[in-house]
Amino acid sequence: MARTKILVGNWKMNNTIAESKVFCESASLIAQASKEKGIEVGVAPSYLSIQYVKEHVEGIDVYSQDAHYKEKGAYTSSVAIPMLEEVGVVGAIIGHSERRAYEGETNEVCNLKIKALLAHNMKAIYCVGETEAQFDQGITKEVIKEQVTKGLEGVDHDGLDNIVIAYEPVWAIGTGKNASKEIAQDICHYIREVLTSLYCPKCASKVRIMYGGSVKPNNIHEYLLEEDVDGALVGGASLTAASFAELVKNI
Ligand code: PGA
Repeated sequence: MARTKILVGNWKMNNTIAESKVFCESASLIAQASKEKGIEVGVAPSYLSIQYVKEHVEGIDVYSQDAHYKEKGAYTSSVAIPMLEEVGVVGAIIGHSERRAYEGETNEVCNLKIKALLAHNMKAIYCVGETEAQFDQGITKEVIKEQVTKGLEGVDHDGLDNIVIAYEPVWAIGTGKNASKEIAQDICHYIREVLTSLYCPKCASKVRIMYGGSVKPNNIHEYLLEEDVDGALVGGASLTAASFAELVKNI
């Protein structure tokens, strides 16, 4: 099953509007390179930059870094999916380990957010990954299985079309200690096995699974050559258009 490769930049709490503007001025480099390679690319700016980026890039999907699961209401500081839809956002990153660690986001909350996005026919990039302590204890697969199973509870076969899973070992994020390509392949393959048991082999073979954690222009190609790694979710190396374009060129 041929799966279109996907590369998404997660800007986190970086890039002001002024900096986003600089990025957009050279974003055609990224769009051009991704078109040549037949790769899907996306970027997840801060809420403040989202609209500017959406209006000033072409050929690059715009994602949100989170979304609330309620349509609207008294949820101070949150952003609702219809608001994101209004500015042309295609989907959201859900369950990033920084949200799990600092905002107490649970698998159950991720599940509500994923289902809310699917109800709007939007994509969910669902992040899963073990902490360093869990890795050291050798319980990575148990952790991943629980995150995938609980996060996707109640998502039907059709909904799966809008799901992308990102395997991001917490110990590899922003540390420069990227997981080996063998670890990335092993866990991405395992995620596909979990999806097979939850759905069916054909359904699982369609889902794109990304690796994330210290992906840089000089190591991205190693991951993307692995059979079950269909893309990358990139933080630090996605902040400038030049670096992002290097990532695409090196796939
Ligand atoms: P990093 O972040 O590339 O800076 O390690 C990845 C992520 O958190 O998605």
